[in-house]
Amino acid sequence: MPADTPIVAQKEPYPIEVEAGKSYFWCACGRSSKQPFCDGSHKETSFTPVKYTAEVSKTVWFCGCKASAKAPLCDGTHKTL
Ligand code: FES
Ligand code: FES
Repeated sequence: MPADTPIVAQKEPYPIEVEAGKSYFWCACGRSSKQPFCDGSHKETSFTPVKYTAEVSKTVWFCGCKASAKAPLCDGTHKTL
């Protein structure tokens, strides 16, 4: 896989319970083994993780396909892949 192409980790979002005030680093490259979050595997790629800071505690749907236009959140694009 070219280093400038994201890998589809899965064709659906990851529901995650986020905590108010906490920051999360979403994996943009798709190579992390700790999906949907970054584990440093993007090193050899052109990608960097996307920071998400939770304003309230709730369930958030993080994009698993890495093609969302509203990354790090799912926008439904995975249905077209
Ligand atoms: Fe994918 Fe860090 S491992 S962005
Ligand atoms: Fe990527 Fe839904 S999982 S847009």
